[in-house]
Amino acid sequence: MKLSIHGGKPVRDAKNRPWPQWPVSTAEDEERLLQVLRSGVWSYNGPMETEFLSKWAQFVGTDYAVAAANGTVTMQLALEALDIGWGDEVIMPGLTWQATAAVALDVNAVPVLVDVDPRTWCIDPAAVEAAITPRTRAIMPVHLYGAMADMDAITAIAEKHHLAVIEDCAHQHGSEWRGRKAGSLGTIGSFSLQLSKVLTAGEGGLLTTSDRDLWIRLDALRNCGRRPEGAMPEADKGGGRYSMDGDLIQSGNYRMTEFQAAILIGALERLPEQTERRARSGKILDDGLQEIPGVEPIFRDERQTSHAYFNYAFRYHPDEFAGGGVPAHVFHEALTAELGIPFESCYEPLNNCSLYRPLTKKRYRISDDHWAAIDPSRFSLPVCEKTFLDESVTTHHKLLLGDDGEMTQVLEAIRKIERQADSLR
Ligand SMILES: Cc1ncc(COP(=O)(O)O)c(C=O)c1O
Repeated sequence: MKLSIHGGKPVRDAKNRPWPQWPVSTAEDEERLLQVLRSGVWSYNGPMETEFLSKWAQFVGTDYAVAAANGTVTMQLALEALDIGWGDEVIMPGLTWQATAAVALDVNAVPVLVDVDPRTWCIDPAAVEAAITPRTRAIMPVHLYGAMADMDAITAIAEKHHLAVIEDCAHQHGSEWRGRKAGSLGTIGSFSLQLSKVLTAGEGGLLTTSDRDLWIRLDALRNCGRRPEGAMPEADKGGGRYSMDGDLIQSGNYRMTEFQAAILIGALERLPEQTERRARSGKILDDGLQEIPGVEPIFRDERQTSHAYFNYAFRYHPDEFAGGGVPAHVFHEALTAELGIPFESCYEPLNNCSLYRPLTKKRYRISDDHWAAIDPSRFSLPVCEKTFLDESVTTHHKLLLGDDGEMTQVLEAIRKIERQADSLR
């Protein structure tokens, strides 16, 4: 049968049989939104925000949670809470959304980009160890798409070198490493709630920590420097490891609104069931991919005990698929046409990324040395580059909310492309 990209009938007629929609909402969400609207408490530590944060901390398994405007400023606040800034280096993977590195720039630190593990696309612990210098202050592992970074190795390196660990969990609301949730394994966890994420309020961000001093600083930093109301007994004032000057710290307004919190209460109630559905679908796809030469699921580390997918991702080997000769971008186009949902490569590596251009902003020209240090082209990232150019396939997580039969269709589409590969070479 002719490929859809060449005018044939697609495996799925997505116009008439659309994929599950994202985001989802219920009548209870509408009710909560109206409640906020009518209450007049639209922001600033409202009851919905307080309720949600307590539930989120409990869900992640940390003592504290803080809400902020998005998952970019959360990471900036995490760095600031740890007093990381000029003269400091922060190690992070070269394969991530630009925000991970942009926040290090914005606090005047140097983002040090290192390569990833080709099996998981997450930061390579050996590359982290090799990049440590006397200026290194923190490691920012990113749990990318469906996989978590090797948190055993990262934690061991951090302990050995006395470094902080900020987990970028923008993709992992609910994943677990040895039974502990992403966001509870490092010094601070950071989550995005942007529309594409599996826990979303349209925009928004969350921070988690079990360190009381850090929580006080994080809360103050998102709220113009005000100390958390009623949460700072005399003994904590200025006495902690990251002590503020008296009880004050310089900052701005990075708060979330009460409307977002209202949406999040329902979204969190639905999250475990959705995670289960996505994990089941992901497993069906992973098992099926294993049977097709030239495509390969992302490595499932046994220590990762729960899988919360952001986009579903897998590996493509252009030399092996259907005997070779079909480049990844052609495979993406053909699969998109068969299934009526976009398939594309992963993020652009940050050493040459169209949305990560540190040398275009005068604000970062603190000194000639700093300017040279933040030039991303100085980092060599062969695995990130190969993954981006040749090997990655990703698609929206809403596909994983489909049923078992729909997952079979995805595998069917890949098989069809394999059979008709001659027409693509
Ligand atoms: C890995 C990663 N980190 C951080 C962010 C930033 O989150 P936000 O868009 O909420 O600012 C994103 C968003 O896509 C992301 O994918």
